[in-house]
Amino acid sequence: MWSLLTSKHSWIDSLWWVAFLRPDGQAVGMKPTSGVVLVTGGSRGIGAATCVLAGRDGYAVGVNYRKDASAAKQVVVQIEAAGGQAIAIQGDVSEESDVRRVFDTMQEAFGPLTALVNNAGILGRQARVADIDVARLRRVLETNVVGAFLCAREAVRRMSNHRGGVGGAIVNVSSRAAVLGSPGEYVDYAMSKGALDTLTVGLAKEVAADGIRVNAVRPGIIDTAIHASGGEPGRVARLGPSVPLGRAGTPEEVAEATLWLLSQASSFVTGTFIDVSGGR
Ligand SMILES: NC(=O)c1ccc[n+]([C@@H]2O[C@H](COP(=O)([O-])OP(=O)(O)OC[C@H]3O[C@@H](n4cnc5c(N)ncnc54)[C@H](OP(=O)(O)O)[C@@H]3O)[C@@H](O)[C@H]2O)c1
Repeated sequence: MWSLLTSKHSWIDSLWWVAFLRPDGQAVGMKPTSGVVLVTGGSRGIGAATCVLAGRDGYAVGVNYRKDASAAKQVVVQIEAAGGQAIAIQGDVSEESDVRRVFDTMQEAFGPLTALVNNAGILGRQARVADIDVARLRRVLETNVVGAFLCAREAVRRMSNHRGGVGGAIVNVSSRAAVLGSPGEYVDYAMSKGALDTLTVGLAKEVAADGIRVNAVRPGIIDTAIHASGGEPGRVARLGPSVPLGRAGTPEEVAEATLWLLSQASSFVTGTFIDVSGGR
């Protein structure tokens, strides 16, 4: 089992100097770090960009994925090539036992968690509410709501300074759909992001005194593969020009907002939202 030494008592105190003690007692890996972050659904799209920028900013990064191991491995390789530390961890966020194992793996690899990005999310094929079946509704809610809740709960259990943790920050990756409703496309998905927004507000108030901040980003139309999974690979090209800023966003533009919300630059910000949507 790896153990962890830090020169500061609290993550809130800004940068850590971290040394991992190997089982033989030798210190390795002494370097300044911004903390330890788990990004759910980190293998592609917005999650992958968040992992890469977190590595750039000095976090030790957990790249969670559900099924695409080689995509997650590529993200790890990219972070390591830039001098950062990362591991890929398989786990379905909607499965309670998987969530516990993913967090345990993070702890063993990097020591106490200081940040969670609740990014994993899915949507079904474009359909009107009248045509959405209950199996698909349950799938969407299981990943986007139950999964995010389980990960947030696990993070709070480990980060709360009333439970021996060092405090930290959670960023939920919601969507402008929570506000716009996605009529004719995926109201079930939009509804799930509405639930995530409520989790953000309620949890932020509940755990503020535990040394944990909770915020969310609400991306608009971002150029990733999620649109193809909704049945329209060309959705970004179709809708991009209608965005007030005249284009779709990039995963990196969302990741920059997330990294700011995780960082000490946003130390007095909790329970709120950044719309990364080009004005949409
Ligand atoms: N792209 C947009 O326009 C947009 C707009 C607003 C909000 N968002 C939100 O941003 C987040 C990321 O979206 P994206 O566009 O980057 O999606 P994406 O390219 O489809 O990537 C989704 C990621 O989530 C992972 N994932 C899916 N289900 C999972 C589960 N049950 N457990 C663990 N990981 C799981 C996938 O891993 P595997 O491939 O291994 O399954 C993948 O890494 C989502 O929450 C989405 O709702 C996206």
